[in-house]
Amino acid sequence: MNKDRRKLLKGIAIGGGALFTGLPSFATSFGTSDDEILRITEKLREKQRFNMCGYAAPKLDTVRIGIVGLGMRGSGAVERLSYIEGVEITALCDKYPDRVTKAQATLKKMNRPPAKEFSGNDGWKALCENKDIDLVYSPTPWHLHTPVALRAMKNGKHAAVEVPAGKTLDELWELVETSENTKKHCMMLENCCYDFFELLTLNMARQGLFGEIIHAEGAYIHNLSKDYLFNKNAYADMWRLKENINKNGNLYPTHGLGPVAQCMNVNRGDKLDHLVSMSTNDFTLGKLADEMAKSDSFFDEYTGKNYRGNMNTTLIRTNKGKTIMVQHDVSTTRPYSRIHLLSGTKGIAQKWPGPEKIAFGHSWIKQEELDDLYKKYSPPIVKHIGEIAKDVGGHGGMDFIMDWRLIDCLRNGLPLDQDVYDAAAWSCLFPLSQRSVAKNSDKVDIPDFTRGSWKTNKPVDLTLNGGATTTVRPIKPASKM
Ligand SMILES: NC(=O)c1ccc[n+]([C@@H]2O[C@H](COP(=O)([O-])OP(=O)(O)OC[C@H]3O[C@@H](n4cnc5c(N)ncnc54)[C@H](O)[C@@H]3O)[C@@H](O)[C@H]2O)c1
Repeated sequence: MNKDRRKLLKGIAIGGGALFTGLPSFATSFGTSDDEILRITEKLREKQRFNMCGYAAPKLDTVRIGIVGLGMRGSGAVERLSYIEGVEITALCDKYPDRVTKAQATLKKMNRPPAKEFSGNDGWKALCENKDIDLVYSPTPWHLHTPVALRAMKNGKHAAVEVPAGKTLDELWELVETSENTKKHCMMLENCCYDFFELLTLNMARQGLFGEIIHAEGAYIHNLSKDYLFNKNAYADMWRLKENINKNGNLYPTHGLGPVAQCMNVNRGDKLDHLVSMSTNDFTLGKLADEMAKSDSFFDEYTGKNYRGNMNTTLIRTNKGKTIMVQHDVSTTRPYSRIHLLSGTKGIAQKWPGPEKIAFGHSWIKQEELDDLYKKYSPPIVKHIGEIAKDVGGHGGMDFIMDWRLIDCLRNGLPLDQDVYDAAAWSCLFPLSQRSVAKNSDKVDIPDFTRGSWKTNKPVDLTLNGGATTTVRPIKPASKM
């Protein structure tokens, strides 16, 4: 190890505790390598180039969209976006041409003109370079999220990227710096921030009803094993099962973390400071692979693999001394949960396990009182578009609220609710939880992607001021999702 590198590693150890001197280099399969941590430390010495938080891009009367990835998620997006006036879907891309053909049929069903077609492994590159696109919307497998978003921004387009936005710290930093350099939005499509209880509690938190929120919990607990991970007809080329091999940590942190981070003004008054993470062993996926392979040799290649531990629990401490617990389990038998718990000095909210609950004392309030809170504190976006969104569908409506808000902000030149710093901070648990798990749950620092601007950035605007001009086409019962 050369002298400078040793000095730098020592500095990190004293300053933040992410590393201690003399550690061997960790391979990227452990989430984040020592070299990556060193590169990030250098970046943190630089000033922010341009603050994308609160940034309003020039208005777009019509938002021309190119969609990359037309699988389970992308095909729904084609339909949802087609309901929104002021949108044109000008380009469609999937590795497999038949998926593009199916999406064209959806456009036809929705009385939309056909879009330009792209396919093959690299079709997305040409799509990103196409002139007639303002926004590249990409529900692809995880490894393509960052490459597509980067190419889109570098070619003058805004990027809307599915969750998580990136898989490594290097990728997340490149997203941040490219968004700053190009002044193009890079929004992660964290739809759970737009679910009804989450929006209610966000507004209640903002109005101070929970007092100071000092602890929160979020999760993605959803048994995907047999129906999705090991289903040949679900994820294309079995990409999601493959992601669960040789990685151990929280690979899907943002559904749980995003909504509570917004309630706690993360990146806008507070910041994620450090984490510790712990995983169980795998008790199900390896066994399921063996079982599936017994009757179908297709699954032979998935046997004898090093599967992700079933349950990962990550604990984060913020700069202001608050804590957040985030869990991830997609492979055990239990009901769905994103927890969504906010615990403050004056009250508490918890969504899962249901029913949704709020308390301002020792007992949960009654259903009628909760109904009253919904009436009084649901933010303007819910009142404006909530019922239409339920009618369109897509995870109970939250997908459509998100899409509508994204388009309305772009059309009215408003800052987006989620910026590139949110995308990076919420996604960085993907690599950093793996690093902590690989090091027996050692503390790992969370980089400040805002490079200090979190201290003055303003909280997410809940008013709809300057917007709400985007209308929605009539929803035909026959074409409901
Ligand atoms: N926010 C949510 O609620 C939510 C829900 C489900 C999935 N997702 C995310 O959406 C993304 C897609 O998930 P999915 O369930 O639709 O998976 P999927 O496998 O059904 O779809 C992915 C699509 O990308 C295509 N693809 C693969 N390589 C490509 C390439 N080189 N160029 C173009 N297309 C390519 C595949 O052919 C497939 O059609 C993932 O990131 C996932 O995490 C988010």
